[in-house]
Amino acid sequence: MPQSSGSTSSTKSIRRAPSELERSDSVTSQRFLGRRQSLIEDARKEREAAAAAAEAAEASEQIVFEEDDGRALLNIFFTLRNTKTPGVVPHSQSLRVHWFPKKIADLDKCHHLVTKFDPDLDQDHPGYTDAAYRQRRKMIGDIAFRYRHGEPIPRVEYTEEEIGTWREVYLTLRDLYATHACSEHLEAFRLLEKHCGYSPDNIPQLEDVSCFLKEHTGFILRPVAGLLSARDFLASLAFRVFQCTQYIRHASSPMHSPEPDCVHELLGHVPMLADSTFAQFSQSLGLASLGASDEDIEKLSTLYWFTVEYGLCKQNWRGEGLRCRHSLSDEPEVREFDPDAAAVQPYQDQTYQPVYFISESFADAKEKFRRYVAGIKRPFSVRFDPYTTSIQVLDNPLKIQGGLECVKDELKMLADALSVLS
Ligand SMILES: [Fe+2]
Repeated sequence: MPQSSGSTSSTKSIRRAPSELERSDSVTSQRFLGRRQSLIEDARKEREAAAAAAEAAEASEQIVFEEDDGRALLNIFFTLRNTKTPGVVPHSQSLRVHWFPKKIADLDKCHHLVTKFDPDLDQDHPGYTDAAYRQRRKMIGDIAFRYRHGEPIPRVEYTEEEIGTWREVYLTLRDLYATHACSEHLEAFRLLEKHCGYSPDNIPQLEDVSCFLKEHTGFILRPVAGLLSARDFLASLAFRVFQCTQYIRHASSPMHSPEPDCVHELLGHVPMLADSTFAQFSQSLGLASLGASDEDIEKLSTLYWFTVEYGLCKQNWRGEGLRCRHSLSDEPEVREFDPDAAAVQPYQDQTYQPVYFISESFADAKEKFRRYVAGIKRPFSVRFDPYTTSIQVLDNPLKIQGGLECVKDELKMLADALSVLS
């Protein structure tokens, strides 16, 4: 089975691929109590669960467990049962659909880390030879391992050295924002300074930032212990959840970190998540990823890379942060945003980007992406229900009709509002 995006040769990842979605959920959720702190341990538990699931599986299903070079892969092949709902054309072919979260609490299972840039393993990480840093990072990472959806995010008391690192980046970027950041970023940053403890002398707490985002766009944060697998990260976005690191980069390298850290998240991502169009775009990326093939996950994560991480917007012909000093120079090639091209554009994460994609506006990028998503092959569509914070799998006309009723009610309400005004 090919590895998904974000996975490299050094990646240890486990993939669940159950379809017959509800039944498989009950199998996995009974088996996976407790947060897993070791990927090898993960593999062992998942193998036990697979063995148990195999006993219960029907003869037509196949479960294959592979272990190779410390890499554990679980392949489960299911045949979807034909739907008997009147008027529904039954699926006539065998389909393989990756497991994906249906309820927001299912994100407690979406925590598979990519170890590529882990300071315990990556000799190029600036903290590799600093045992005290690695210990501190682990301690903060443990908060994420213990975290469950719905709990307040525990606060971290940052050290003077950590605040010093934050301050250095903060002051450098804040100067650049005035001339390089888009208006949405500037406005959100102003509010974050006013309400969320953003300042040179304070590293904001994820819990406070999460409450701020919730009020503005419905996004919330949850702590994560490192670089997440692309599939798990994108799945979280479908629920308007941004998985956010809480530890900070090594003090010896304040202006660059090989892995995401709270500086990257809080200064780069959070202000944009406070914009409603950008938030909607992010959620659309997440919804498109649910149950998608490994190939599509790779394309979607590449799209994420060239939009959310490194995208440019023509609105102000400005970008964000230090990277954009480079992107706005004459060095890189800047192309008009085209999701089909961006999804397969090769990228590298070691230095500045040679190619950028620029959109007319966030809304333009969102609309182009919507058309791109329509081309992704899945035997169903999904819809996020904000009232239950769950995913509805639209795999028969009755469910689609239910969704239409909701839209009808919304339209009626808006039409009434319009008539009041006129
Ligand atoms: Fe990022």
